[in-house]
Amino acid sequence: MTRLLHLTDLHFGSERADLVQPLHEAVVAARPDLLIVSGDLTHRARAGQFRRAMEFLRGLGLPFVTLPGNHDIPLFNLPARFLATFGGWQRHVAPDLSPMREAGAALIFCANTADPYRWRGGQLRDDDLRRIFAGLKGRKNGMVPILACHHPLKVPAGFRRDETHGVETALPGLVRDGLQVVLTGHLHHWEIGLGITEATPQPLLMVQTGTALCDRPGERDHGFSVLDLEADAISVTPWIAADGTAAFRPATRRRFLRRDGLWHLAG
Ligand SMILES: [Fe+2]
Ligand SMILES: [Fe+2]
Repeated sequence: MTRLLHLTDLHFGSERADLVQPLHEAVVAARPDLLIVSGDLTHRARAGQFRRAMEFLRGLGLPFVTLPGNHDIPLFNLPARFLATFGGWQRHVAPDLSPMREAGAALIFCANTADPYRWRGGQLRDDDLRRIFAGLKGRKNGMVPILACHHPLKVPAGFRRDETHGVETALPGLVRDGLQVVLTGHLHHWEIGLGITEATPQPLLMVQTGTALCDRPGERDHGFSVLDLEADAISVTPWIAADGTAAFRPATRRRFLRRDGLWHLAG
């Protein structure tokens, strides 16, 4: 079994201070093979916020891979936003904005969807797509291809439809070439297996994870997702600090089975 932990939207600089240590303890207790952190490490892309986010991530003592979110590029400093968009990220986090990793049976492609021209919305870039298509074609047998990016590729009911440019044209090809799982954040909203019901199996298992730490008014159900990969099956367990508590606990697990190129909800 391969265990992945999907963490997103930490928002250091506007974080729930009382949840930082409980989050550390819960992530370590979950014992993942790899931590995937899908952007918004910071709230305003400031050096001190990047430093605190990286101190938190490195302090976990676990392997991790990460990619930028819209809050990780400058918003108000326009010269920096357009001329040094990912300067802070590359200085403090990593030079590679779209890394790729293998962990057990998982083959993880990260895409950088943060876009200084739209800021809030995102885009799938051609150079990321070329690299992902090449990786899908060259993958070893039995590997489960997973795409992680900040912006959602499919928007749940009640959210803006145009969140990420480039998805409609790219998605059919990604599915055809074997992409199986998508991990996203940004909405600060949970949807495990978007669109998959007992009656409607889907080719992509989309895991939309809520914010881990953001303290903006109205934020609730802070947490992260744990994915357990077995042969032709994935179980997803949200770990949530319910309102009014400062401890992350596993919530209801959902299990998905892969048959004939589709994910079926098994319970
Ligand atoms: Fe966010
Ligand atoms: Fe975001």
